[in-house]
Amino acid sequence: MDLALLGGTPVRSEPFPTWPQHNKSEEEALIAVVRNGSWGGYSKKVKEFETAFAAFHHVPYGISCVNGTVALEVALRSLGIRCGDEVIVPAITFIATASSVLLCHGVPVFVDIDPATLNMSPEAVRAAITPRTKAIIPVHFGGQPADMDALVEIAKSRGLAIVEDASHAHGALWRGTPVGNFGDIATFSFQAFKLITSGEGGIVLTRSETLADKCRAYCNHGRSVSGGWFEHFTLGTNYRMTGFQAAVLSEQLARLQTQTQIRQANVARLRKQLASIEGLRLDAEDPRVTSQPNYLLTLRYDPSAFNGLNRDGFLSALQAEGIPAKATYPYPLYRNPLFYRKNLPPCSCDKWEATQDYESLYLPECERVCHDGIWLEQNLFLGTSKDVDDIIEACGKVQAMSQNLLAVQQHIKAKEGH
Ligand SMILES: Cc1ncc(COP(=O)(O)O)c(C=O)c1O
Repeated sequence: MDLALLGGTPVRSEPFPTWPQHNKSEEEALIAVVRNGSWGGYSKKVKEFETAFAAFHHVPYGISCVNGTVALEVALRSLGIRCGDEVIVPAITFIATASSVLLCHGVPVFVDIDPATLNMSPEAVRAAITPRTKAIIPVHFGGQPADMDALVEIAKSRGLAIVEDASHAHGALWRGTPVGNFGDIATFSFQAFKLITSGEGGIVLTRSETLADKCRAYCNHGRSVSGGWFEHFTLGTNYRMTGFQAAVLSEQLARLQTQTQIRQANVARLRKQLASIEGLRLDAEDPRVTSQPNYLLTLRYDPSAFNGLNRDGFLSALQAEGIPAKATYPYPLYRNPLFYRKNLPPCSCDKWEATQDYESLYLPECERVCHDGIWLEQNLFLGTSKDVDDIIEACGKVQAMSQNLLAVQQHIKAKEGH
């Protein structure tokens, strides 16, 4: 049997589970909001969801908002990040982790990742601290909590704030404690592909009443909880979540634990079976991570175990076999044109000064994972063990026949050369 890319029969032709998932309960919850007429941010569904989501993470305060990007901005504003303040961020994450810093006129300082976890390296954080550093934003990348033991110790000893970007890590546990409890404040996204979703949406969690009040006021035009509609005490805007979003999210939250368990069982099977395939490696498990919801699995690819076939060639072959694996970010965040000198600073105030020359920055582990990383997304693990077996079979097939693919690639290249 030949590779599907070369005309053979694919390992798999049936689709994987799709995302988002919903059933009658989301439909009924939405209809209930339509009928009760309380559609906006003052809907009791919003309060209900905030309370439930915060309680699920054992945190007293939850302030919902329109998406995970503004959740980060709100969190940074509540901490008083202002022009010229440095905020340390990993360079392997979604743009919002760094752009939220710029939106507050702060200076993102990129640090390298720990290659075993893809989370920000505590050693790199320590080395990046300057007198202008105000905060650290660890991202619990792919659902795996960052090393919160080390990061909390650094933040405490250097007087820095921590904003946990938990956009990938709903319900993840570090030493038995949910993410969202380690920093001063934490943010989550409910964007369409996140572990629970309302299409768009976000929330800030905090143990601090003061920060909670600031976040709530900022998201609600500077109003106070007991004040009137036309009473505005501080500068704010309208970032309120709607009753529709909250109604859907409450139903999604009720399903999260079960889905996490299904993913965990399937990922455990994948881990075991991957041992038989040389050149495809999953990040090491950390015993301090007591629950990993597996938002995004990153496989590291070694072309030498595939007759020199490069990562993108492998991915094309794997996709043709019916496995929708993807390449990781094309490059670390700092190589986006946003960070080119001509596009900065983000304000006209002369306090803003880049700490790093973003254009020449080179963080080796961040660069490496963009080159050899492969993503398997969470929905692939919401089905049965047969789905995992198909992923493994397809990887094995491409490996066994990589020589054929390589010969075709070389032939095409030679033809193009003439
Ligand atoms: C790590 C991370 N932070 C923040 C965000 C921003 O969330 P949103 O898309 O809801 O604005 C995302 C992604 O979508 C993300 O992946």
